[in-house]
Amino acid sequence: MAAGRALAALLAGLLAALLAASAQLLPPQASFTISLHKADNTTVTIKLRPGLSPSCRIYVKNVKWSELKIKPGQNVTFTFSCSTPEKYFIAEIQKNIDCVSGPCPFGDVHLYPPGLPRLNRTYIWDVKASTKAGLELKFTTSWLRQIEPGEMCPDSISYNINSCIDKATVNIGTFCRNGSVSRVKLLGGVVMSLHLPWHSPLTTSGFNIANRASIKRLCIIESVLKGESSITLMSPNYPLGFPEDELMTWQFVIPPNMRASVFFHNYSLSNCERKEERVEYYIPGSPSNPEVFKLSDSQPANIAGSFNMSLQGCDQDAQNPGVLRLLFQVVVQHPQVDENVTHLVDLSKEKNMTVTIHSEGWPSHIPLMSEPICLICKDPRTCDRVLTLTSGAVYRISFLCKDLSRLRITAEKGIGCMDIRWCQRKIYSLSVPKAITRLPIRLYKFIWNLLATDLINVEIMSPSLKLQQHVPEQRCNTSYSYSIVSATPETELNVGVFCPGGSIEKIQMRNNITISLKTFGKGFINESVPQDLKMSFVPHIKDECIFTVSPNPKAKVYLQTPNWPYGLPPYVSVSWFIVVPSRQTARLGFSKDRMGIACETGRAYVNIKEELLGAEEVVRREDELLPQPRNMYHNFWVNVSNCKPVDKTQLTLQFWVTFADKQIDLGIILAVVAGAVVLTAIGLTVFCVKKKKKKTQNPMAGVYNSNVNTQMPGKKGLFGKGRQNNESHVYAVIDDAVVYGHLLKESNGTVTPEVDVYRPFDGPMGSLPPSPPPFSFRKDIKRSSVTEEEPLPLTDIDQDTYTFAHQKSGQSEDNGDANKKDEGDTSVPLLENKEEDDLAE
Ligand SMILES: *[C@@H]1O[C@H](CO)[C@@H](O)[C@H](O)[C@H]1NC(C)=O
Ligand SMILES: *[C@@H]1O[C@H](CO)[C@@H](O)[C@H](O)[C@H]1NC(C)=O
Ligand SMILES: *[C@@H]1O[C@H](CO)[C@@H](O)[C@H](O)[C@H]1NC(C)=O
Ligand SMILES: *[C@@H]1O[C@H](CO)[C@@H](O)[C@H](O)[C@H]1NC(C)=O
Ligand SMILES: *[C@@H]1O[C@H](CO)[C@@H](O)[C@H](O)[C@H]1NC(C)=O
Ligand SMILES: *[C@@H]1O[C@H](CO)[C@@H](O)[C@H](O)[C@H]1NC(C)=O
Ligand SMILES: *[C@@H]1O[C@H](CO)[C@@H](O)[C@H](O)[C@H]1NC(C)=O
Ligand SMILES: *[C@@H]1O[C@H](CO)[C@@H](O)[C@H](O)[C@H]1NC(C)=O
Ligand SMILES: *[C@@H]1O[C@H](CO)[C@@H](O)[C@H](O)[C@H]1NC(C)=O
Ligand SMILES: *[C@@H]1O[C@H](CO)[C@@H](O)[C@H](O)[C@H]1NC(C)=O
Ligand SMILES: *[C@@H]1O[C@H](CO)[C@@H](O)[C@H](O)[C@H]1NC(C)=O
Ligand SMILES: *[C@@H]1O[C@H](CO)[C@@H](O)[C@H](O)[C@H]1NC(C)=O
Repeated sequence: MAAGRALAALLAGLLAALLAASAQLLPPQASFTISLHKADNTTVTIKLRPGLSPSCRIYVKNVKWSELKIKPGQNVTFTFSCSTPEKYFIAEIQKNIDCVSGPCPFGDVHLYPPGLPRLNRTYIWDVKASTKAGLELKFTTSWLRQIEPGEMCPDSISYNINSCIDKATVNIGTFCRNGSVSRVKLLGGVVMSLHLPWHSPLTTSGFNIANRASIKRLCIIESVLKGESSITLMSPNYPLGFPEDELMTWQFVIPPNMRASVFFHNYSLSNCERKEERVEYYIPGSPSNPEVFKLSDSQPANIAGSFNMSLQGCDQDAQNPGVLRLLFQVVVQHPQVDENVTHLVDLSKEKNMTVTIHSEGWPSHIPLMSEPICLICKDPRTCDRVLTLTSGAVYRISFLCKDLSRLRITAEKGIGCMDIRWCQRKIYSLSVPKAITRLPIRLYKFIWNLLATDLINVEIMSPSLKLQQHVPEQRCNTSYSYSIVSATPETELNVGVFCPGGSIEKIQMRNNITISLKTFGKGFINESVPQDLKMSFVPHIKDECIFTVSPNPKAKVYLQTPNWPYGLPPYVSVSWFIVVPSRQTARLGFSKDRMGIACETGRAYVNIKEELLGAEEVVRREDELLPQPRNMYHNFWVNVSNCKPVDKTQLTLQFWVTFADKQIDLGIILAVVAGAVVLTAIGLTVFCVKKKKKKTQNPMAGVYNSNVNTQMPGKKGLFGKGRQNNESHVYAVIDDAVVYGHLLKESNGTVTPEVDVYRPFDGPMGSLPPSPPPFSFRKDIKRSSVTEEEPLPLTDIDQDTYTFAHQKSGQSEDNGDANKKDEGDTSVPLLENKEEDDLAE
């Protein structure tokens, strides 16, 4: 046992000794010897990075230091107390070069002295020179790229150039490697510094200094651009002020077969007391060198070959000097093949219009330096990325752009009426002028600003194309659409998005109206795309908007309240006037069964009334159920007026209207009347109709609808069932609830008009509830799209009338969630067909 213990102790001791030895070996602190020749006039300072606690020290002959300064002629050997001094220390190597009192040591500048520890280091060359002499810094290994204050270089290697005039220091700029600045010429002294990170392998300064004749200005910066490229440069001291009354020049060396363009991205001017701040260009081949520009001018573009540009300051107001600064870009591109193709834009007959041609995404998207740019030229050398043309003139423009599809046009036109006497009965066409549609540039947006006083309202009409409202059930997919916003200085109401090829013939609106035509996809607005929107000013209207809707036969029209989906603003009322052709009946249904709001102040109403003397008005308050689908035989109004809803409830209403031929129903009406009489007499509640000829059905509904009597007692109807297959064999069961369906006040909210058609559905279904109601929207629409696609046999007219009733029942059953479920697939086929129909007209 004892022997065992002794062995253990021995082993432990050995281990401890080994550990101690290895611990001592761990920091093999290197020692450094720096020996500076007196003649080099170089001082090396190694110091703690400011703000860092001294947890690492410098040892010189066992004396601890936190800063070490080695002066010219000294020879110092030192070590660090830690193994990673680069985390704590920085080195500053300053060399003073005096060219005033002695000869100037020109030539390559070396990184002296050798043998420095690997620390972040800053070499500073402080050159004192006579202001009569010019100094040139020439970059040999890598040309430079100027960076904005605060920007970092990717390799952490940066150059800073300061000029000293009369004891004042001017920051010429901070630069990274890998750019196109090849030379900087300065007057008088210069303080040049080079920052290297501790891990940098760089062993040469990368520049040399040479003596030059006086340059008679603050500095000259030379850039050599090769191939397609761009360079961004800033005035000295940027973003602070360029020195008062100074002059400087940028020289650009451009391959002779390339074109250069200058863009001022950021500038400000000082307050000049005498002289004017300006830029002057020497452009090869220009008859008027130097060309003088204001900083606010569009700068020259498409310059062939090398040129130079000078910035001239002024005598500033001593009290309030202001700041002259400039950040600009020079872009070099190949000549564009169509640079000599000019396009005529004749806006001489237009009024109150501006046309802006710009790049995609402008103005929010600032193109990357690497992206090829597109320039729009008013004349061969006045080009810019954005060109705005105003009405009343003729322009000849050309494009310097490889890919014109990157350009867009945004145009704006104002039409005002401040006195109705001047504008009433005047019809203004809201179509995009040919001068714009002819250009090979895609129209992005055309905005009409319709301005009027409170008492003058706006009416827009689209008599031949008619408008469709963009709703989830019927999405616009034409190549363009109109977004309509009505605004007062305080409020904004988004009336909706509309596209051509629908049922809305007219919209009357209050307030100032902005109509923005926006194009989509590759769809150009050009001469081959029909446009038909007219506008006139009308006297005051009561509602916020009044829509006149005159649908095509067979169309299913969806309409919804403005400001969708955020809700109608408080107290706002909107009306729709639906035109029912004399030989047709319309069926009106709401997409949900309640308004879905609670009023804080006032009441919200939906009013429906046929335009007929003595016609009954259907009125629903926000706390009542909305009407069930109903047939309408004459033109009718749907009016919605809002209260001030309690928080978080918003009035959004959507309804639909379908149409069916009435004429066919005449016979049926008689039949139904007869049938109804019989039914009443016998007390039968159900009768079945095998629908070989659908004529027998719709008319029934018709008869009763004309005697609107909302007091009809509610009755739970029997469920009718029928079947309709592709061959249009339809079976239906109709009971009194069918006939009276629209008359039954939905006292319990569940009565469904019962004309039901059972038909297997073979179209896209989406997510139907597990036990679907006998009918869904989708079926109807599927069917109706089928009927529209196929040449219709005569009997299909019946089918339509039948479908009608069918749709309504489907609708009423789906009621609340019809919206969600039917979104998407329902709308597309209908819309397509309808659009094609309309456009073909
Ligand atoms: C600097 O000092 C070291 C010893 O401290 C010596 O070996 C070296 O030769 C000296 N170098 C010069 C240039 O004086
Ligand atoms: C050294 O430079 C790098 C980057 O240039 C920086 O992240 C680091 O903090 C610097 N170290 C010291 C001690 O200043
Ligand atoms: C060395 O630097 C000092 C301080 O700037 C200066 O006075 C002196 O003339 C310089 N000597 C040489 C040889 O450049
Ligand atoms: C220089 O810039 C080019 C492109 O800007 C880049 O591809 C290259 O890697 C850079 N070289 C260095 C050394 O940073
Ligand atoms: C232009 O200068 C202003 C003020 O210094 C600055 O806020 C802005 O970001 C600059 N814009 C660009 C593109 O540099
Ligand atoms: C600018 O260019 C013109 C013509 O090439 C030349 O005469 C002039 O000396 C240049 N100026 C500077 C400052 O480079
Ligand atoms: C455009 O016209 C100028 C002057 O006539 C000519 O020098 C240039 O080559 C032409 N450019 C092209 C791409 O044809
Ligand atoms: C031109 O537009 C402005 C507002 O954009 C409007 O005030 C003015 O009435 C318009 N002029 C004409 C003739 O429509
Ligand atoms: C409308 O959309 C459908 C499918 O979504 C497409 O087939 C049709 O071409 C579109 N019509 C237009 C005018 O873009
Ligand atoms: C329409 O805009 C004009 C000009 O901005 C303004 O004077 C007028 O009051 C506005 N009209 C309405 C109804 O807000
Ligand atoms: C006009 O637009 C249509 C489609 O929108 C396109 O097929 C046609 O090529 C365009 N015409 C012109 C001249 O751009
Ligand atoms: C609906 O509004 C229009 C326009 O304000 C009005 O002429 C019509 O009488 C209203 N109809 C009903 C039923 O409120």
